Amino acid sequence: MTIDKGAAIITGCGKRNGIGAAVARVLSRDGFPVVVVDIEPAGVRDIHEPANAADPDWRGVESLVEEIRQAGGTASFVFGDVSDRVAVDAIVAHAVTTHGAVEILVNNAGAPFSLGHGDIAAVDVDEWDQVMAINVRGPFLLARAVAPLLRERGRGRIVNIASVAGRTGSKNNAAYAASKAGVIALSQTLALDLGPDGVTSNAVLPGFILTTRSLSGMSKKTGASVVDDAMVAKSMPSIPVGRAGTPEDVAAVVSFLATDAAAYVNGQSLVVDGGVLRL
Ligand SMILES: NC(=O)c1ccc[n+]([C@@H]2O[C@H](COP(=O)([O-])OP(=O)(O)OC[C@H]3O[C@@H](n4cnc5c(N)ncnc54)[C@H](O)[C@@H]3O)[C@@H](O)[C@H]2O)c1
Repeated sequence: MTIDKGAAIITGCGKRNGIGAAVARVLSRDGFPVVVVDIEPAGVRDIHEPANAADPDWRGVESLVEEIRQAGGTASFVFGDVSDRVAVDAIVAHAVTTHGAVEILVNNAGAPFSLGHGDIAAVDVDEWDQVMAINVRGPFLLARAVAPLLRERGRGRIVNIASVAGRTGSKNNAAYAASKAGVIALSQTLALDLGPDGVTSNAVLPGFILTTRSLSGMSKKTGASVVDDAMVAKSMPSIPVGRAGTPEDVAAVVSFLATDAAAYVNGQSLVVDGGVLRL
């Protein structure tokens, strides 16, 4: 007997070229009903987002749901701030009411690139708190809310999108790096707490992935309001595989972690960086 797949909740899906949207597309192709979440329809705009990054035809999570349904998948969207306990409970309630059960949680939402970014002596304390709230409290609240559902089902997957910054640190990026180290430790702890119930928890650590976020980083660094392919090629870090990562590179690893074949992978940090950490 095959059991119907429970829903996959994926946070931070508003941007067309974001990691969240790529994860939603691939998990839908894998047969999971997907619940795509964001705080704003087309994602929060970073103050350094290049002028050419936005896509006027993209209506965010609504467009993503349409796209997935047209491809034959099952999808719904819900808005909510992952750092808000009431909103998180509503997100999980939406998943259960709409799709019957929850099986996968992908904590992907991330604080905007420029929030809390800068030299340590100048980091705004409120911004530090906001980064921690979105990047660490959010995944904690969502994991806490889905844990009873996954335990009851006896099968579940939690995948937290951290960053190589959580392992190496990141210059002028203390809040972000510390938050992502927190996400790695949270993933490891969830693996211990939920592993006995058939629920695995892992962190995925992307390196340089070409999304609006990384373009905002380049725009801030170079001062350019428009970032084109030539600029990306010039300012990209040295990467052993010779190219920038794509959201699909990260989504493929999440897809694997969601399979039964990955049932014995628990509490790990899977680095998706083209080999940069080996340099
Ligand atoms: N792009 C990269 O190079 C890279 C590298 C390492 C890690 N990551 C991580 O991968 C994840 C996705 O990154 P990305 O580059 O695709 O997108 P991004 O950082 O541009 O977008 C993140 C999404 O999270 C949403 N979000 C922000 N605050 C939220 C909140 N309070 N509640 C709900 N949603 C909220 C935003 O609206 C946005 O759609 C992030 O966690 C990021 O830290 C990205």
